[in-house]
Amino acid sequence: MSLRKTVVEQFKNPHGFLGRIAGWIMANRRSNRERNEWTVALLNVQSTDRIIEIGCGPGLALEACLARAADGHVVGLDHSPTMLDQARARNAEAIREGRLELRLGTLDDLPATGAAFDKICSANVVQFLPDRGSAFRKMYSVLNAKGVAATTYMPRGKNPNRENALTMAEDVRRHMEVAGFTNIRIEELPMNPAPAVSVVGEHP
Ligand SMILES: C[S@@+](CC[C@H](N)C(=O)[O-])C[C@H]1O[C@@H](n2cnc3c(N)ncnc32)[C@H](O)[C@@H]1O
Repeated sequence: MSLRKTVVEQFKNPHGFLGRIAGWIMANRRSNRERNEWTVALLNVQSTDRIIEIGCGPGLALEACLARAADGHVVGLDHSPTMLDQARARNAEAIREGRLELRLGTLDDLPATGAAFDKICSANVVQFLPDRGSAFRKMYSVLNAKGVAATTYMPRGKNPNRENALTMAEDVRRHMEVAGFTNIRIEELPMNPAPAVSVVGEHP
């Protein structure tokens, strides 16, 4: 496997020693902290909200959600046990208090029926989802009426640019619209070398 493929794989499904390093980088890189904080800020979290993060990685956005939803409940979903270990260590107190639950798995593992969440977020995960149509249908099905979902993405790879970010944002917007989301808007966070984008939509 090429070096680039090895690195991408460790951000897609961190595992082993290299996976722990990838998690450490995500947790400590200033731009990633900023991107996660910005994503959560877009959700307008209320103190009693039930929130799920898809692909929570080392748990930065979970931490930001927990700080806002003092009387709510937060779920972190990730298919990597290595990442759940790091998210658990970062948010141990909230787990002890019963405010945070970590689940190993993917969107396919969530029950299809029954609105369960007021807010859904993800940061730099959408590019790894195998079927975006099905992913946004599932997100829609687990969101309460008036619930909000924010999907953040920042392009990587060779010479990423704003065009790459907006192309993904448009694809996400289209899938959200088909799934039934309304009031969909695209937000931008200036970053180097390309902006982060977040597509925010509501369940009517
Ligand atoms: C680039 S990392 C981002 C982590 C975190 N959101 C952040 O911004 O710090 C991508 C994360 O998504 C997880 N992931 C990728 N595909 C997934 C899927 N289909 N279901 C659940 N988790 C997934 C990976 O294990 C990894 O933790």
